[in-house]
Amino acid sequence: MKKNKKSIAVLTSGGDAPGMNAAVRSVVRCGICAGLNVYGVMRGYKGLISGDFVKMGLRSVSNILPHGGTVLKTARSKEFMKSSGQKKAVDNLKKYNIQGLVVIGGNGSFRGAHALSKRWGIKTIGVPGTIDNDITGSDMTIGADTAINTALGAIDKIRDTVTSMERIYVVEVMGRDEPYIAIRVGLSGGAEDVLVPHTKYDIGRMCKDIEKGRRKGKISWIIIVSEGVASAENVSNIIRKRTGYEVRPVTLGHIQRGGSPTASDRILASRLGGAAVEAFIKGNSDKMVGVAGEKIKLTPFTKACRHSKEKALLGREIYKLTRILAT
Ligand code: F6P
Repeated sequence: MKKNKKSIAVLTSGGDAPGMNAAVRSVVRCGICAGLNVYGVMRGYKGLISGDFVKMGLRSVSNILPHGGTVLKTARSKEFMKSSGQKKAVDNLKKYNIQGLVVIGGNGSFRGAHALSKRWGIKTIGVPGTIDNDITGSDMTIGADTAINTALGAIDKIRDTVTSMERIYVVEVMGRDEPYIAIRVGLSGGAEDVLVPHTKYDIGRMCKDIEKGRRKGKISWIIIVSEGVASAENVSNIIRKRTGYEVRPVTLGHIQRGGSPTASDRILASRLGGAAVEAFIKGNSDKMVGVAGEKIKLTPFTKACRHSKEKALLGREIYKLTRILAT
């Protein structure tokens, strides 16, 4: 190993997202091509604490591009939230003489990276990887596009039975307290209604709409509910009680996190991985790389972790359109 060669480490943290592998591949290959040593850290901050580091080579990331999940594994670490856990992580980074850490994950992971920079002086760069798309400073996060397409595929299938059996289906999608997946899936899947966090909803009004629709000859309904609002089971029970119609709940669950990443996610992840290496080389720290339109931009972690007003406004606009198109 060359003596003065700088070293960086890369880890994936929090819920896995399709496209994380593409981002890891890009960080490793762009890093090595820029003359850096690159280490992979296994199981996110857990591996940082236990010192589970793997020296990466160009071939360590061969053939991972089309696969969902993350070859570096991922975890949520409670120990890392404590100062004692962070100290162990910092000691390991120093032991391996690592000058920069690339964190691929969501806002919980970025809060950890921010603590490493602010309290312990470690250079950190974030790459937004989460199906929730709940980060400020990047139009899209890695995995969100694949998750929407996975959920949409399931809804198209559900529609076949919905129409044949003339029923009401309530489909619960992921997204924590962010309406992103629910709203996009609602519009693209032709849902009759969408229940999302941060927006007022009225199940009484929805039941009246169902009754009205039935009188006009409408035979089937798909209602999307975001997990941050209620469970499909609960919403189904209310509608069944109030209308007397046959209602079925479906929870799509973790299938939304799996599968081969879409082309958009692979492109986004590859671009952001490379941008993270470049940002480190240029001396940046405590920031996330993201996309605004076609351009790469940097956003401080403190801002990236906040709720995005722009995304919320766009969500409302799409929701209104979904309701009009459902008439
Ligand atoms: O943040 C990604 C996400 O998939 C959320 O949409 C969901 O609420 C959560 O993770 C589920 O976490 P877990 O895999 O720990 O159940």
